[in-house]
Amino acid sequence: MFSFFALFLLMIVYQNVQSHLCVWAPVQRGGFDISTPGSHICYRKPGPCGNVNASSTSPRTTLTAGSRYRVEFQQNLNHYYTGQPGSLDVSFAVGLNPSESDFQVLHSFSDYNAMNQITQTNFTVSVNLPNQPCDQCVLRVRYLSNNPEEEDHGTTFHQCSDVKLTASTDDTPHSSGPSEEISPIVPPIRQNDPHDCCAPESFTTNFFHIIPSTQSHAQGMIYYDKKAQQMRVTVSTNHGQGNTTYDGTFDMWMNFTSGYQYYYNRNSGACDLYGLDYWNDWCFGNTFNQSEDFVAADVRCSGGRSPHERCDQWRNGGFLFETYANNQCFPASISRQNGERYEYFEGRTEPIPPSVFVPNPVCVKKREVKHASPGWMRFHL
Ligand SMILES: *[C@@H]1O[C@H](CO)[C@@H](O)[C@H](O)[C@H]1NC(C)=O
Ligand SMILES: *[C@@H]1O[C@H](CO)[C@@H](O)[C@H](O)[C@H]1NC(C)=O
Ligand SMILES: *[C@@H]1O[C@H](CO)[C@@H](O)[C@H](O)[C@H]1NC(C)=O
Ligand SMILES: *[C@@H]1O[C@H](CO)[C@@H](O)[C@H](O)[C@H]1NC(C)=O
Ligand SMILES: *[C@@H]1O[C@H](CO)[C@@H](O)[C@H](O)[C@H]1NC(C)=O
Repeated sequence: MFSFFALFLLMIVYQNVQSHLCVWAPVQRGGFDISTPGSHICYRKPGPCGNVNASSTSPRTTLTAGSRYRVEFQQNLNHYYTGQPGSLDVSFAVGLNPSESDFQVLHSFSDYNAMNQITQTNFTVSVNLPNQPCDQCVLRVRYLSNNPEEEDHGTTFHQCSDVKLTASTDDTPHSSGPSEEISPIVPPIRQNDPHDCCAPESFTTNFFHIIPSTQSHAQGMIYYDKKAQQMRVTVSTNHGQGNTTYDGTFDMWMNFTSGYQYYYNRNSGACDLYGLDYWNDWCFGNTFNQSEDFVAADVRCSGGRSPHERCDQWRNGGFLFETYANNQCFPASISRQNGERYEYFEGRTEPIPPSVFVPNPVCVKKREVKHASPGWMRFHL
């Protein structure tokens, strides 16, 4: 039986269904907002363009045909799914409102295990634009999450940016022929390695998060208990005094039994409830369905904190994952070529008091879900 109240609740919740992918270079249709994880304007599911159509007067970014262009976007929530890790890609099509089959993928890369749904990860991907000028064409970024809990017109997020490609005015020769214009999409080689490992079933660790490009830093603690199906993260970003993602102090509670994740802002006292995806486990390597491939064992850790410490390493595209070697697979770092890094240190397995996992009462009162697909809500509410 479907009550009127349930319909009403669904409508409220629908309006608050939130986001995962935002593109600002070139700017996506309908504007963007990356001030918070899960911002409304970026949740667009139905293909090919999230059910946002362009008109001949839509804002349009002018780019040069045949040039190399840096596409900039943010994965506004991480939906990594160990059952079948997903991917992100950049594609291109000619036309005002091209159909799915018109899109040609220019670049594709694996999703990564951020170990937490609530993350905001910027990506810059260089692509070779097609060498053919066009007045109305679309550059699109997709996040193919593969995550069954994201089922809502499929599990893929779409953002389309309206562009115009003008003929190049200089004489520099352009790459010619589709084989050079389009970067080849090489499927990763998945191979299990004996060093692949999972962190202790229950552990606590300190961490730093450093983003050199924005001179941003954060620090906090992670508490993880696989048996209890709980995780807690406390984090203070930059000065920790404000009420924004980039300057504030937050608690996150993840309950993998209820499927709820709370995001509590200590300074404002506000708490958001997120529909939680499947477990982001603390495992490393293909053996455990992680999209990072084993690289090396017992090498010098990449971080500057402890030059004598030795690490095992895995790589997934631009992401390097490290655990401390000979130390029960404690996480050591996740870092990127642009210098962004999570550094984990002082990992320990001391018992975690159950109170650590009890959310703030303000959170428990929360009924409105900030981000959840209808599929998630059917299953959890
Ligand atoms: C966009 O265009 C498609 C195809 O014409 C149509 O089915 C859809 O309803 C349109 N969406 C909006 C929001 O106008
Ligand atoms: C790993 O992937 C395989 C194939 O998709 C799936 O059957 C299996 O359940 C996955 N294992 C885990 C731990 O998610
Ligand atoms: C992501 O990029 C935006 C736009 O350039 C910037 O404002 C923001 O600080 C960046 N965030 C992170 C986490 O790097
Ligand atoms: C986690 O969720 C389960 C199921 O709703 C609930 O019984 C349990 O009390 C929750 N744990 C905490 C620490 O809130
Ligand atoms: C944060 O929000 C709280 C509650 O709304 C307010 O009292 C406080 O002044 C805000 N702090 C800052 C730095 O804006």
